[in-house]
Amino acid sequence: MGNLTTQLGRLLTVALGGLFLAAGGSFAEDAGNLYNTNFDINAGLKYFERQCSRCHGFDAKGNDETGAPDLTGRLARASSEVGLFNIIRTGIAGTAMLPVAADLPDSQVWQLVAYIGSLSTDPANIDLPGSVASGTSLFTSKADCNSCHMVNGQGGRLGPDLSRVGERRSPEELLSDMLNPHIDVAPRWWTMRVTDSDGAVREGLRMNEDSFSLRIMDEELNLWSYPKNQIESFERVEASTMPSYTQTLSDSEIDDLVAYLFSLRKEN
Ligand code: HEC
Ligand code: HEC
Repeated sequence: MGNLTTQLGRLLTVALGGLFLAAGGSFAEDAGNLYNTNFDINAGLKYFERQCSRCHGFDAKGNDETGAPDLTGRLARASSEVGLFNIIRTGIAGTAMLPVAADLPDSQVWQLVAYIGSLSTDPANIDLPGSVASGTSLFTSKADCNSCHMVNGQGGRLGPDLSRVGERRSPEELLSDMLNPHIDVAPRWWTMRVTDSDGAVREGLRMNEDSFSLRIMDEELNLWSYPKNQIESFERVEASTMPSYTQTLSDSEIDDLVAYLFSLRKEN
């Protein structure tokens, strides 16, 4: 597997390290950051400009003179939100990196965490191994992803619209979406296998289901409605209809698709 898989492994290791840190008492609990809306990111940015930029720079890309590192990529000392929170809260002993004011509320520290986190998901700050251009063409040619997925109004309806997937999924998650599509499939994408009272079997995405009826959409996008009392049996398949691409695409093709998907955002 390419670069990304190694990164995944590394991420896992450090995430565990983060948990370990969190077990240490007065540190933040690993409940994740609850202050991560656009409002919070913006508040974090304002605080950063006032208190942190003189060492880390207004663009947070670091400053050789102060020795304050670039905060826009992978951090050397923290790879989880909790780890980052703890650095900001307690500083780094023996360095110029001092703790924030003791009376600064945790919510504001989390806003800083949200702001720094937003920098590392900015595609301009992430160096992915794949090529966006190759990924773009693979998507609609060899890999045929567009038969199920829509991007900017073009493509199929048998999977989620991916026009802005880069905003909600990290490169690691996008990679996992392609290699292990059956993990965590939302009910919206479950398949129903229905046998009607004549014994005919039909499969499709589960569009609607209540106590009395069931509606599915087959591969040709036809909708089928069944009153439940006229169905012989039905079966929910909680797996994805998306195949895994481990066998059919090469590592570098998968990297290209990850780079393309990650570039899909509102601005485009
Ligand atoms: C007086 C200069 C100074 C100020 C002000 C400062 N820092 Fe730092 N910061 C540093 C230095 C120097 C380091 C590197 C310490 C080391 O690892 O040797 C650092 C390290 C860090 C790290 C760890 C980076 C990594 O790669 O792991 C984070 C995160 C960080 N600072 C965030 C902040 C935030 C947020 C603020 C504002 C609340 C801030 N810093 C204010 C000097 C500063
Ligand atoms: C047969 C239809 C089908 C094909 C072909 C297909 N997908 Fe999917 N894809 C789905 C469905 C259904 C889901 C939602 C269920 C799930 O999470 O697997 C999905 C989910 C995803 C997601 C997660 C989206 C999100 O919002 O979380 C990504 C990313 C993705 N697909 C990328 C691709 C790429 C890249 C290709 C081509 C290499 C591809 N898919 C081919 C049906 C398909």
